[in-house]
Amino acid sequence: MSKKHHSHEAMRHHLHPFSDNAQLQKEGVRVIVKAKGVYIYDENKQKILDAMAGLWCVNIGYGRRKLAKVAKKQMEKLPFYNTFFKTTHPAVIKLSKKLIDITPPQFNYVFYTNSGSESVDTMMRMVRHYWTSVGQPDKKVIIGRWNGYHGSTIGAASIGGMKSMHTQGGLPISNIVHIEQPWYYGLARANETEEAFGLRAANWLEEKILSIGADKIAAFVGEPIQGAGGVIIPPETYWPRIQEICQKYDILLVSDEVICGYGRTGQWFGYQALGFEPDIFTMAKGLSSGYLPIGAVLVNDKVAAGLLAGGEFNHGFTYGGHPVSAAVARANLSILDKEHIIQRVHDQTGPYLQKRWAETFKPFKYVADVRSLGLMCGFTLVKNKHTKTLWPNWGEAGLICRDLFFKHNLIMRACGDHIVAAPPLIITPDEIEQMLAIARQCMIEFETIMDQRQTSASPA
Ligand SMILES: Cc1ncc(COP(=O)(O)O)c(C=O)c1O
Repeated sequence: MSKKHHSHEAMRHHLHPFSDNAQLQKEGVRVIVKAKGVYIYDENKQKILDAMAGLWCVNIGYGRRKLAKVAKKQMEKLPFYNTFFKTTHPAVIKLSKKLIDITPPQFNYVFYTNSGSESVDTMMRMVRHYWTSVGQPDKKVIIGRWNGYHGSTIGAASIGGMKSMHTQGGLPISNIVHIEQPWYYGLARANETEEAFGLRAANWLEEKILSIGADKIAAFVGEPIQGAGGVIIPPETYWPRIQEICQKYDILLVSDEVICGYGRTGQWFGYQALGFEPDIFTMAKGLSSGYLPIGAVLVNDKVAAGLLAGGEFNHGFTYGGHPVSAAVARANLSILDKEHIIQRVHDQTGPYLQKRWAETFKPFKYVADVRSLGLMCGFTLVKNKHTKTLWPNWGEAGLICRDLFFKHNLIMRACGDHIVAAPPLIITPDEIEQMLAIARQCMIEFETIMDQRQTSASPA
């Protein structure tokens, strides 16, 4: 990328998240100044196709004036009030009603936060409070999965299974354990069917429960499809078996819908697409399409009854249920509804992307496990797809590839050596073609680079 696309000035005072800031200081960053539809624009007027919907969140696309108008009106009328002390306000009342309307009948209560991490931390405190309320205070252990991502607060990073996060600062906190992720390509035995692997992977939960004791376990938490773990789509047998195990041992089942919620999989929520019913689900991102920070935790009637019986829940955030965020979230949900955006992902753009994603990437020799559901897709960069040999230094090939996309004005992401995309849900088939055409060129360049590396690495 030419130097004029970099801004060093922008870097001077800002420590960027999930970044090597010393390296950024040398390289500079790109300054994004505006956005419309599926495109973002930098200060040098470069038009960039954002196939990650920001951070998996701008579901209705950029540049919706309606949301700006709603925010302005709400800000002028009631810019802030809290819901702590026997008070509430119309924006949060209306949003709650809308959330209850779009979810199955057993979900009737919602707790508000400002982010996915706060939703997950809230859920962690909530499930422990629930078990104490119903007379089982020893049920404290929460089970997550390796490579799951649930956020960056101490609780959320602990229940997440990102080892690179755990090694910084001595995580996880106590009473958190993990099981392996349901990644068929990476973890199946020779000749094992997807169905059989799905059941075996779910049974890792039962093994963990039995090794600890069900009377100690509060909840199991998973993303229907692991997002930041690399768009890991479990076999169809996986989630129904997980649900069965949770019911058998009286363990709360939590679906982290921060990415999968609000249409990403072609259904309102990921658990609907993956065939299970959680007791609790956490959300953020697509709830407001990222226009303002807001998150929420929905609980079913069983959990609500326990919480209502448990007296005061000593938990809450100043900005939880913020009136402006709540009004904007509700307007976002109306747009999803009125424009039939989720239906379109389900019937049209999801299947279209699935087909074209596979056709585009399967032929590449360093690409394996090409996968997709709704508007969430991925593949894995491998050294040899016949022997399933990964590249040495997991993540290095991914970064080379990601930087090529970026150089060619396409945002896709590397999660280790998994390459993923999750475009705004309003993307059209033409825009999908543009995205794939750029990505294909980048993959040709990527394979040339990797071929050269192999040649120069092989003994003379
Ligand atoms: C599944 C999942 N849960 C939680 C989070 C944390 O959300 P936030 O970054 O809003 O705190 C994320 C963020 O990517 C996520 O993907």
